[in-house]
Amino acid sequence: MSPDGARGSLAIDNIGSLITNDPALGRGPLGIVEHASLVISDGRVESVGPAGAIADERIDADGACVLPGFVDSHTHLVFAGDRAAEFTARMAGEPYDGGGIRVTTDATRAASTAELDRLVRLRLAEAHRAGTTTIEIKSGYGLNVADETRSLEVAERHTPETTFLGAHLLPSEYSGRADAYIELVCGEMLASAAPHAAWVDAFCEVGAFDADQCRAVLSAGRAAGLGLRLHGNQLGHGPGVQLAVECGCASVDHCTHLSGADIEALAASDTVATFLPAADFSTRQPYPDARRVIDAGATVAIASNCNPGSSYTTSISFCIALAVREMRMTIDEAILAVTVGGAAALRRDDVGRLTVGSAGHAVILDAPTHHHLAYRPGVPLIRRTIGPLGPPTRPA
Ligand code: NIG
Repeated sequence: MSPDGARGSLAIDNIGSLITNDPALGRGPLGIVEHASLVISDGRVESVGPAGAIADERIDADGACVLPGFVDSHTHLVFAGDRAAEFTARMAGEPYDGGGIRVTTDATRAASTAELDRLVRLRLAEAHRAGTTTIEIKSGYGLNVADETRSLEVAERHTPETTFLGAHLLPSEYSGRADAYIELVCGEMLASAAPHAAWVDAFCEVGAFDADQCRAVLSAGRAAGLGLRLHGNQLGHGPGVQLAVECGCASVDHCTHLSGADIEALAASDTVATFLPAADFSTRQPYPDARRVIDAGATVAIASNCNPGSSYTTSISFCIALAVREMRMTIDEAILAVTVGGAAALRRDDVGRLTVGSAGHAVILDAPTHHHLAYRPGVPLIRRTIGPLGPPTRPA
């Protein structure tokens, strides 16, 4: 028997408010069941029912809210060093332009693999304490064949959702030779990275890579068997969203600056619009017009974007509070975006919900309802996280 229901059975009993994310099971879009119990057996949800369920092990939720573990579909956890000085300068008026990626690349290249692994473990433990149970991890601070591959080798020890981001920024040694670098990314670097990656990504932005360069990376990644995702429309209006939709990306991430045509394209596609509000907070960008995107009918997700430059946080609760306060999402929409939304951005349907047969990944709050996640910003309301991060497997 294990304490999280990974082996044997675990009943979380006396739940005040259980968020299942299945409207057929309970009230509203979150499918809320009151006075509930949740039984997890061998890592899967076995039953959702009234309080009083019996199992090998029992946790008394004492009237608290229980919800699906958060699905954080966008992080850059493999890095060394930090950029506190850059952040401090930014708060004093310097703009963010992504150029600091090269600073982190230098630090990451210089770090031993054991040190990178130790740092990733620390960040994952922090994310798990904060309620995240499924996480995507990108490379992107190696920017050469050996260090991109090494970053993915570290990442794949911890999650199946690994993303090759060789096209994050032009490394200094390729200055003035962007097309030669893209050739490397699409050729030798991809060949070395792909066995360790599920996804390929690129940073489509002025100062990073243009639409043709990103299209080449996505096409090469697809040919290598990887799923597609893209950074787009972070620092200004650009071609990222349209390119992501054209290529059938699972997700286009940031979506801070969107035109009406971008929103229409997203709504007519199955590309998820992933918002990263902690990056907008930390770079003093405006917040995305989430209301228009949701009202148009697009699928949305919210992720932490944990990285040392634009968003050094693993806290999904913080992102929820920002989305509600600054992006005018309802609290229910924000909860959906960090659970089933994140799952959709990773093309997963086994996580982000608590229905019979789904993954038994759950969060017990120190609060009676999910509203408190936005209502009590900055307060650590995650009492306990049940189930993975890890083991690094993905359902077939
Ligand atoms: O998603 N935009 C590109 N990549 C990261 C930032 C990386 C950095 O500044 O180190 C992001 O915000």
